[in-house]
Amino acid sequence: MTEMIVDGRPLPFVEGQTVAAALVATGRLAWRTTRVGHRPRGVFCGIGVCFDCLVTVDGAPGQRACLVPARPGMTVTTGEGDDD
Ligand code: FES
Repeated sequence: MTEMIVDGRPLPFVEGQTVAAALVATGRLAWRTTRVGHRPRGVFCGIGVCFDCLVTVDGAPGQRACLVPARPGMTVTTGEGDDD
């Protein structure tokens, strides 16, 4: 098992998992909130359509966690992303 860095902390993942899968595997079901109403968001569609799972990956905002493969050492920041 290898690790990526999520919000400054190591997060283990299994090769082949997406960032979203790794987060869900640790029991984290929501990792950002909407701008309006601050409603929790995590994985909804799981196939890159809904944009609910947005994270910042290695400084690039607005990445869909359900599509980004987890890589050793990558940095992920949650709690950011556009939505209403
Ligand atoms: S969960 Fe819908 S785009 Fe990622």
